[in-house]
Amino acid sequence: MITDKLRRPLGSLRVSVTDRCNLRCRYCMPEQDYVWLPKQSILTFEEIARLVSVFTSWGVEKIRLTGGEPLLRHDLPTLTAMLAANTAVRDLALTTNGVLLARHAAPLKQAGLGRVTVSLDTLRADRMRELARTDRHADVLEGIRTARAAGFSLKLNTVVIRGVNDDELGDLIEFARKHKAEVRFIEYMDVGGATAWSAEQVVSQREMLEVLSARYGAITPVTAGDISAPAERFRLPDGTTFGIVASTTAPFCRSCDRSRLTADGTWFLCLYAARGTDLREPLRKGATDAELADLIAATWRGRTDRGAEERLALVNRAPLFPVEGLRADPHREMHTRGG
Ligand code: GTP
Ligand code: 5AD
Ligand code: SF4
Repeated sequence: MITDKLRRPLGSLRVSVTDRCNLRCRYCMPEQDYVWLPKQSILTFEEIARLVSVFTSWGVEKIRLTGGEPLLRHDLPTLTAMLAANTAVRDLALTTNGVLLARHAAPLKQAGLGRVTVSLDTLRADRMRELARTDRHADVLEGIRTARAAGFSLKLNTVVIRGVNDDELGDLIEFARKHKAEVRFIEYMDVGGATAWSAEQVVSQREMLEVLSARYGAITPVTAGDISAPAERFRLPDGTTFGIVASTTAPFCRSCDRSRLTADGTWFLCLYAARGTDLREPLRKGATDAELADLIAATWRGRTDRGAEERLALVNRAPLFPVEGLRADPHREMHTRGG
């Protein structure tokens, strides 16, 4: 195991397999045009599996496949099977927008994927059209049903935005209960890509709990569980649980054990980091596993990032990057960093 300057272990890795997405969620990809990572820079499955094995040699046990939209990457079950064959990977999960999930759920299960998280911001097709510029709401619901039927443990992610979907919290809890999933409400974050972010649109964890206790009665925190997980979990009087990811108003940087690998092999130690470490170049130039392991360890040992906490300390909080800054370096985008 290796720890950083704040004694945080390197425990989980989010692997973005593509920076492309088939939706245009307004909190993530609100612009008309995007600059994509060059094709030849995208890691092959073999390259991803090799890097993951170097990470697991340092104690990483949790791998989450993300994007962009990971199901846009051709033949994801093959990569999943390659990663599942790595016995050090204890938890192999996927975060998807669900549009293509119905088609891929069973093959992914068979390939050894353990858990699935689907982004579901609204139960209303008309709202999703506004929010994500898509008509595929029914496909997402079908994806959720199919994933459950395939036997996946399921979470739903809802980014809560004032005036957009903040009247649906209770309905989403009901939906999740019915589908035996756990919903997590995510505070709108001022990450790269969120160029339309403003503080007024953030619905805080506190406010969400107030609204939900007015509907359901006393809500109690669930204390057991993974302390490095971003979501705090809560229980309704009838036992239903849900989570809140309060990265904007109550960041969890102190216990953050995660880092992220972009589709082109750039390794970011924080969602808010200005730059990452290029692992692709040494990999393609023939570095040995030991050399890659040394680079990873040296980089992690120097880590001091507390991105979300630093953002919280700002007086006038505005989007992290202006559009021009994002165009200049697509690595700054949330859809490149993998959410
Ligand atoms: P599990 O807890 O293992 O189920 O997964 P997860 O919650 O890490 O995965 P998911 O992709 O569902 O992430 C939930 C949300 O947490 C994301 O939508 C992000 O908004 C937020 N998040 C993920 N990683 C980070 C991070 O490194 N820092 C901060 N501040 N927020 C993050
Ligand atoms: N604020 C909060 N969450 C975000 N995501 C993307 N952009 C934002 C943002 N600005 C989340 C999506 C998805 C995950 C991959 O990242 O909801 O669940
Ligand atoms: Fe929406 Fe995820 Fe696509 Fe971003 S990457 S636009 S959050 S579905």
